[in-house]
Amino acid sequence: MYENNETKPVGTEDLKQHAVRVFAPATVANMICGFDVLGFAVDRPGDEVLMERVSRPGVRIRSIVGDQGRLPLDAEKNTVSASVALLLRHLNLQDEIGLEIDLTKHMPIGSGLGSSSASTVAGLVAANYLLGDPLSKQELMPFCVEGERLACGFGHADNVAPALMGGITLIRGYEPLDIIELPVPEELAAGIVFPQVDVPTRDARQLIRQHVPLKDAAQQWGNIAGLVAGLYRSDYDLIGRSMQDVLIEPTRAILIPEFYEMKRIAQDVGVLSFGISGSGPSVVAISKGIEAATRATDRIQEHLFTCGIDSLKYVSRVNRKGPILLE
Ligand code: HSE
Repeated sequence: MYENNETKPVGTEDLKQHAVRVFAPATVANMICGFDVLGFAVDRPGDEVLMERVSRPGVRIRSIVGDQGRLPLDAEKNTVSASVALLLRHLNLQDEIGLEIDLTKHMPIGSGLGSSSASTVAGLVAANYLLGDPLSKQELMPFCVEGERLACGFGHADNVAPALMGGITLIRGYEPLDIIELPVPEELAAGIVFPQVDVPTRDARQLIRQHVPLKDAAQQWGNIAGLVAGLYRSDYDLIGRSMQDVLIEPTRAILIPEFYEMKRIAQDVGVLSFGISGSGPSVVAISKGIEAATRATDRIQEHLFTCGIDSLKYVSRVNRKGPILLE
């Protein structure tokens, strides 16, 4: 889809086809120790956008499925249509091109799985494709970040970057955006459990402290550096001991029912690490091989069930592809 990374001029003659369906994956932001700077994509769940080119200019949301009526159909308020409209304006095509969107959510909203990011990325990739791929993935990224800002009030990129690029990404800097793709060790797997309570990212961000002791900061940046080194070496022990969060987890864990019991269960099973996925309440067990992640999610789900808490679980390797065209 993006063989050529050069920006191409866009005109209506570049339009590829009438309609396209794009899937974009869920993501585990923070990768436990890297608040706002690390994240990875998973194979499932993810969201789908069907985008159709129509003669009436403008961007409209035609339907949303799977959101239990929680997302706005108003094109200016919906992050998918709003970010696609920004893209059209950037290309100076807003008075020329009409795009209509059917959004299918395959994952819960406010779950810590990058739900808004997956939808935004799918929408922007679909629009870019229908326009003849004028922008490279790197060039689409600022529009994805704007979508995220609309969704939760903060333009953090640690969900949209892996959703768009696939794999594991590092946001080296935000001004300007500097995104580094990191190696994905072959056997790295993630078991995610979503306890069905709602934790909006906006709230989860307001809770965390704005100042941290230097000692804790040093421990955390040691962990981030250790994790990156571990990824380059495929050193699973180093990866495991680096994925510890001393800054954010102690505060956010309060919002997540049974967090420390779930952590104990995952550690008993022998995963590399366990922590909060994004801003929660989903939790993630990261393991070497899919089996330990599967065992951890099974046992955690059983435990939540005995506590009367419904949950969803997903087990996946790290997704290297990012968004894909479905037809
Ligand atoms: N880095 C963001 C946070 C991710 O932790 O608030 C939100 O999913």
